Amino acid sequence: MYSRRQFLGAFGAPAAASMTLAALNPRSIPELLDALAYHSGTPAEIARDEEYWRPIQQAFTVDRSLVNLNNGGVSPAPWAVQEAMKRHLDYSNEAPVYTMWRILEPQKEGTRQRLARAFHCDTEEIAIVRNASEGLQICQLGMDLEAGAEVLTTTHDYGRMLTTFRQRERREGIVLKQFSLPIPAEDPDEVVALFEQNITSRTKVILMCHIVNITGQILPVKKVVQMARTYGIPVIVDGAHSFAHWDFTHDDLDCEYYVTSLHKWLFAPHGTGMLYVRKDKIKDLWPMMAANKNQDEDIRKFEEIGTHPAANHLAIADALTFHQGIGPKRKEERLKYLTNYWAEPLLKHERVVLHTSQKPGNSCGIGVVEVQGVDSGAIGSYMWDKHRIIITPIKHAEFEGMRITPNVYTTLEELDRFVEAMETVIRDGLPEKYL
Ligand SMILES: Cc1ncc(COP(=O)(O)O)c(C=O)c1O
Repeated sequence: MYSRRQFLGAFGAPAAASMTLAALNPRSIPELLDALAYHSGTPAEIARDEEYWRPIQQAFTVDRSLVNLNNGGVSPAPWAVQEAMKRHLDYSNEAPVYTMWRILEPQKEGTRQRLARAFHCDTEEIAIVRNASEGLQICQLGMDLEAGAEVLTTTHDYGRMLTTFRQRERREGIVLKQFSLPIPAEDPDEVVALFEQNITSRTKVILMCHIVNITGQILPVKKVVQMARTYGIPVIVDGAHSFAHWDFTHDDLDCEYYVTSLHKWLFAPHGTGMLYVRKDKIKDLWPMMAANKNQDEDIRKFEEIGTHPAANHLAIADALTFHQGIGPKRKEERLKYLTNYWAEPLLKHERVVLHTSQKPGNSCGIGVVEVQGVDSGAIGSYMWDKHRIIITPIKHAEFEGMRITPNVYTTLEELDRFVEAMETVIRDGLPEKYL
């Protein structure tokens, strides 16, 4: 839990004003990039420069009659990404056995190369999958584990990933061990110590989040990986929410396995994800759908899923161009700024607590807030019914709150509306029917 004073102290002074621009057609990537080029300043200064973000906001086709503050679940793709996908889809349908299989599918290699460059790893370590769930399950189900083998994770890990290990418990007799993380978990050494304390001679693998989706806590992955390596235990990193959210590469993690959704913070087409498997680990990881023996050491064995669309995979490249055009560090700073923008006024109220650390390096665009004494689920329903604002109530055995995830297209006016609606609830309570 974060007190108001700690929270306010964590942020610097407002940045200098910026230069102006004249946006033309901000939905096209070349014109968008032209418009952005007029701006100078550090990423933290640009984060507060509304003129910079205006054409980026217009690059999306979102419905502005509502306020969508659940971009963590799945993000809209910018117009240019949607258009690229549609073009590839139209072409696919000209004669799919030729245009999709023979022409477009091989072009996926370009996407693979660009993802590897962005993540800073070898191209032969990247598989393009349908989402984080698929990539994680490849890791979780593809390892040979005998009855009694232990897998270690936390109580804050994602439900479907826990279900995956629980199915192996029922089917094969492995043992899922979980421990609780502190909220916030700001001391990296404490987090590493918690993992280490729960390791036994039977522990075969660790699953951990890069950023916890229900608290917004960024975890010290590299430190855990290095500790676990001394015991010979590999780490599967659930980075569903981390890639393209803030600026990092594989060098900052050093893990054996990393998986992310691309339809969250990269804004790629829905149904896209990325699986990284360190080269020496590919051979011993079974794919979810069978592959030939001669593919044992080929990362593409994880993509043997039968007929699938090529359009989604190729348009990931357009999402990367959009992301790199904004600049990863600028995007990171903007997302932090937006979190601060809505959280700071709410924290002026005594009953409001933030379950997300604001200590530098501990969080970014995911914030989880609770109004003590008011049910978070009821607030979520009220926000939608009365204000057409989408937020995500979180009910966990250890805490509750509302997850707020703005996006680069979110305007300050939209956040003002959210804050005002929340202040009404804090001041007047919820209408009778929500109690
Ligand atoms: C921590 C975490 N892991 C995995 C997933 C699954 O992602 P996807 O729905 O893209 O498969 C999510 C989705 O929100 C998540 O938050």
